[in-house]
Amino acid sequence: MCGIVGYVGEQAGLEVVVEGLRRLEYRGYDSAGVAVLDGGRLQVERRAGKLANLEKALAERSLPGTLAIGHTRWATHGPPTDRNAHPHLDAAGAVAVVHNGTIENFEVLVDRLERDGVVMQSDTDTEVVAHLVARAYDGDLAAAVRAVCRELEGSFVLVLAHRDEPDLVVAARRNLPLVIGLGDGENFVGSDVTAFIAHTREARVVEQDQVVEVRRGGVTVTDLDGAVVEGETYHVDWDTDAAEKGGYEFFMLKEIEEQPQAVRDTLGGRLTPEGLVHLDELSMSDEDLRGIEQVFVIACGSSYHSGLIGKYAVERWCRLPVQVEMASEFRYRDPVLGRNTLVIAISQSGETADTLEAVRHARSQRAWVLAVTNTLGSTISRESDAALYTRAGPEVAVASTKAVIAQITAMYLVGLYLSGIRGTRDADEVRAHLRDLQEIPDLIAELLTRMEPVRALAREIADEPRVLFLGRHVGYPIALEGALKLKELAYVSAEGYPAGEIKHGPIALVDQGTPVVVIATRHALQAKLLNNVQEVRARGARTIVLATDGDESAVAHADVLLRIPDTKSLLAPLLTIVPLQVLSAEVARARGLDVDQPRNLAKSVTVE
Ligand code: G6P
Repeated sequence: MCGIVGYVGEQAGLEVVVEGLRRLEYRGYDSAGVAVLDGGRLQVERRAGKLANLEKALAERSLPGTLAIGHTRWATHGPPTDRNAHPHLDAAGAVAVVHNGTIENFEVLVDRLERDGVVMQSDTDTEVVAHLVARAYDGDLAAAVRAVCRELEGSFVLVLAHRDEPDLVVAARRNLPLVIGLGDGENFVGSDVTAFIAHTREARVVEQDQVVEVRRGGVTVTDLDGAVVEGETYHVDWDTDAAEKGGYEFFMLKEIEEQPQAVRDTLGGRLTPEGLVHLDELSMSDEDLRGIEQVFVIACGSSYHSGLIGKYAVERWCRLPVQVEMASEFRYRDPVLGRNTLVIAISQSGETADTLEAVRHARSQRAWVLAVTNTLGSTISRESDAALYTRAGPEVAVASTKAVIAQITAMYLVGLYLSGIRGTRDADEVRAHLRDLQEIPDLIAELLTRMEPVRALAREIADEPRVLFLGRHVGYPIALEGALKLKELAYVSAEGYPAGEIKHGPIALVDQGTPVVVIATRHALQAKLLNNVQEVRARGARTIVLATDGDESAVAHADVLLRIPDTKSLLAPLLTIVPLQVLSAEVARARGLDVDQPRNLAKSVTVE
């Protein structure tokens, strides 16, 4: 949510920052802007709409200078207009600021500034920071930022420049992510490492309530009292190729193709030579793990669906009750937690505000919290007791694909590991499940070669106003995920339902020709599911059935039959999810929509 970048060095600042914004655009794309410092003047350009609008405006201007800051916005305070786009300046044009987050006490601060005669130029909460810093400035930008941060309430990452400081970008963070990029004669700050990955792979995470002074020759980090704090740098183990489209029209299509590798990498190094699981990252003693009596999974969006799938595996293998909750609801109903509770927080970004707040609540209730996240050093991973990293690599498309597959894989690993420790499954059985899991990457790769009928189907149903997705057992969360994907990418009204439930209401939606996608791979409930399919078919539905290779029982029920390679029924979601991802992307494409950046959405939602 909002992408931020800052640069000081020897290169043209504008180019470095716009390139960073291009990579950060997945975080928000309502408007974008830059400020470049040159010869004691801060020059600003900002535009509503996608980054392309800003780039068009910049093509007509020359903004030289080797210090620049930039922003791509997902609107919170004030509509996405030119005047609300960042950067914001104080009245004298001395300070430029870009901001990610929400300043909760901004109304009080605006009142104070207005009483002092300041006329606000925008509807944003951000602008107050420019005015406050300008007033606090006494020749030391970092000191002024520290003083202002002490007054701010809420969440923020701020990146600022002052016209009198030609070698200094200052950044500060509270609750939201900020990373430093360490170069040679140049340094960077960004919302994540993609902001500067084209220039350096050496990075350092900024911690809570720290202020960073970025100069050409080096970086200093202090706390809000100005005391210098040391920190560790790390090397990013992927490069620009991973963050680029590599010949694909959309990131999402590339990320779908990367799914076999995402599963392989998530399993990698976590299996013992004896064919069992070891998850050192869990950092809980075997005794503590044996003491767990209940599990909660908290997550949002597609990650929530990964949690629902994980529930089937953990309950089955570990005989532990598992509740899966949307993070935005979890803490408000005062769930019963304690030292006997394992809370698994699933988040690709590791920054989702709802999930983060749920984690904080769980920890305050003394529950063990395990983060399953794709982002090294993310806030959720740092605030949890332990972090299990999915290794899907950078995911840029707003709609999550390879990260979800990696999350589901990670949940299977957690289930198998716990079952071993708790003695609910014997070693032979765990080994057998792991062997099945290891076959999945090849099966996904094979499945991906069969997508032509899915693309053809997408073109056929592109104009349908409504699509129903049905499944049972682990097919049910996949139905939810298929519907969510179609909603978010193609703006089609789509419902995911447990097939047994449709007779209690949703069947009323079925009309002549209504497309109904059914996840009907082989499992214990398949016969009942096929009865449900008959029910919708009898009412005119056009059924699109996902069935296991070689299984003839579904054929008679399908208007369109899509085949899925055979695997154990519990693992089938890792396969059935794939054609539904392709279907939604292709429907969006057929409707002329931007597959990577659907309207109103952001990849990382850092407001509650
Ligand atoms: C946003 C994204 C979804 C994602 C959800 C949770 O809504 O658009 O694709 O599943 O956030 O994100 P997280 O980073 O916590 O997994």
